[in-house]
Amino acid sequence: MAFSKLSLFFSLLLLSFLFINSPVFCGTDEKDNLLKGINSYRASLNLTSLTKNDNAACLADELADQFKNQPCTNSTGANTVPGTEPQFADYPNLLGKCHLNVSITRDGAVMPACVPNLVPDLVLTNFTQSQYSDNLNDTKYTGVGIGSHGDWIVVVLTTGTPEGSYAPATSATSVVTEISLMYHLLFLLVAAFYLL
Ligand SMILES: *[C@@H]1O[C@H](CO)[C@@H](O)[C@H](O)[C@H]1NC(C)=O
Ligand SMILES: *[C@@H]1O[C@H](CO)[C@@H](O)[C@H](O)[C@H]1NC(C)=O
Ligand SMILES: *[C@@H]1O[C@H](CO)[C@@H](O)[C@H](O)[C@H]1NC(C)=O
Ligand SMILES: *[C@@H]1O[C@H](CO)[C@@H](O)[C@H](O)[C@H]1NC(C)=O
Ligand SMILES: *[C@@H]1O[C@H](CO)[C@@H](O)[C@H](O)[C@H]1NC(C)=O
Repeated sequence: MAFSKLSLFFSLLLLSFLFINSPVFCGTDEKDNLLKGINSYRASLNLTSLTKNDNAACLADELADQFKNQPCTNSTGANTVPGTEPQFADYPNLLGKCHLNVSITRDGAVMPACVPNLVPDLVLTNFTQSQYSDNLNDTKYTGVGIGSHGDWIVVVLTTGTPEGSYAPATSATSVVTEISLMYHLLFLLVAAFYLL
């Protein structure tokens, strides 16, 4: 019976990897839609696609989390008058949570938008047909991270230069990697307990 136990063990192990990597687990639909829309917009201007940047996505997620309880008004989001954007006292802390600091994010762009129920078409035009289009059609941006909470969706653009790379010097282990690693260790312990 040792063989079938072993094959059961590896089947479950495989399943657990499939589960942790499945998109259903992350619920990223509105973010993926927006990224596709933004890259189509850039393609129509003959600009390169933006590539995903995990640290920018982390910051976008943290910012969306801060915004989530604010209602959509014309003084927030894509309709914000430049210079009147909401400021966060703990912005350096949010950067720190994502292994970032101001010297490697200075040249990036942070663009929050609020759209009730995040209706996909409205979300896209809030970026492509607002003041934000100036950033989206700028060749200096090469990377992107998107986060959303509630009615808020935040796009963070990164540059190819060190001042906007969102790339920490030491490659810090991402939170997602830590969680999936812990998940697998736990799984192995439980499996070993039952099978060995
Ligand atoms: C994009 O490139 C194509 C082919 O080079 C050209 O015909 C088109 O006018 C360009 N569009 C823009 C928006 O620059
Ligand atoms: C928001 O809209 C109101 C009414 O249309 C207008 O009076 C106000 O100036 C707007 N605020 C901003 C920041 O655009
Ligand atoms: C942005 O979203 C708001 C809803 O919050 C909508 O009323 C507005 O028309 C949108 N703006 C653009 C330019 O798409
Ligand atoms: C980018 O958009 C701005 C404002 O819509 C426009 O003035 C500028 O010409 C555009 N640049 C490119 C490269 O399309
Ligand atoms: C910011 O991070 C970069 C890369 O990780 C590092 O080289 C730099 O010293 C940091 N700057 C500050 C002000 O902490």
